[in-house]
Amino acid sequence: MRKGRSPEGIGARHALLACLLKMPFGATGYHPAMKIPPRLMPLLEDGLIDSVVRQLMSGKEAMVFVVRCGEHTRCAKVYKEAQQRSFRQAVDYTENRKTKNSRQARAMAKGTRFGRESQEAAWQSAEVDALYRLAAAGVRVPEPIGFHEGVLLMELVTDADGDAAPRLNDVMFEADAAREHHAFLIRQVVRMLAAGVVHGDLSEYNILMGADGPVVIDLPQAVDAAGNNHAQSMLDRDVTNLKNFFGQFAPDLLETQFSREIWALFERGALTADAPLTGRFEQVDKPVDLDAVKREIDDTLAEEAARRLRMVQSRSQ
Ligand SMILES: Nc1ncnc2c1ncn2[C@@H]1O[C@H](COP(=O)(O)OP(=O)(O)OP(=O)(O)O)[C@@H](O)[C@H]1O
Ligand SMILES: [Mg+2]
Repeated sequence: MRKGRSPEGIGARHALLACLLKMPFGATGYHPAMKIPPRLMPLLEDGLIDSVVRQLMSGKEAMVFVVRCGEHTRCAKVYKEAQQRSFRQAVDYTENRKTKNSRQARAMAKGTRFGRESQEAAWQSAEVDALYRLAAAGVRVPEPIGFHEGVLLMELVTDADGDAAPRLNDVMFEADAAREHHAFLIRQVVRMLAAGVVHGDLSEYNILMGADGPVVIDLPQAVDAAGNNHAQSMLDRDVTNLKNFFGQFAPDLLETQFSREIWALFERGALTADAPLTGRFEQVDKPVDLDAVKREIDDTLAEEAARRLRMVQSRSQ
């Protein structure tokens, strides 16, 4: 631990400062710290965090804490060990996930201890990798700070009061706001896919309502769109979740078909971050009726011939 930065020492100094300035204890910027959970000890010892303010959540895959780092308040996501986790290591998500070398790939396939450890490390670091990749592509995700000893340090997404932001699911929207956030999030999905990534678990539970708008979180299962056979169905599920959630507040959104439109552009290699979208999609899957096309051409030619004839006749009169 860095000298002079023990949580108790900082607390005592802030208490004294608050007393001298006749301010409430919290107003000096200090939040009383909790006992350090063992998994966060290495980060404290290595000087990456100074104290732990509180536990935010214990989800299916991870425990999330609010931590202090110097003058910053940040978020620390501590991944649970494989056997404590639930479902998301299904084959869909790990298919074609990149491995460092072929020994690792063989070991992962065989399920040896080295293989399980490699798989575990790949799973845990997948989220930080995705955060860096998506932040670079202009997607609004928490700013990644680093990954250390199985803990992801990142920006704490906050609401207008500076408190940890609520999940979309905990917020109500007027129809216009619902349309605006839906459009913004569809654009985020497009940006992700244009950067080659499908979130794979996007829903009102994995989007936070930050002070400046929605922020996409929870990406350990994000898949490589080009190399995964399930990418299209995952994209469809993500987009359908957005539609159904915001459709509760603006039912017209329930008619939109963004998923098929986005995927069609992606498959044609025409998806860019700013590609214009309509929300409509017309499947052209009927075989082309060549006779009808020929009749159409003949009719047009006959019409044109008649027009010319009329012109010639009117000139000669
Ligand atoms: N960067 C962040 N800023 C603020 N809050 C966050 C942040 N990351 C996560 N949280 C909070 O922690 C919760 C759990 O995070 P996350 O969804 O990443 O983990 P999880 O283990 O997959 O959880 P779950 O099983 O509930 O999906 C979020 O719903 C959110 O409330
Ligand atoms: Mg989650």
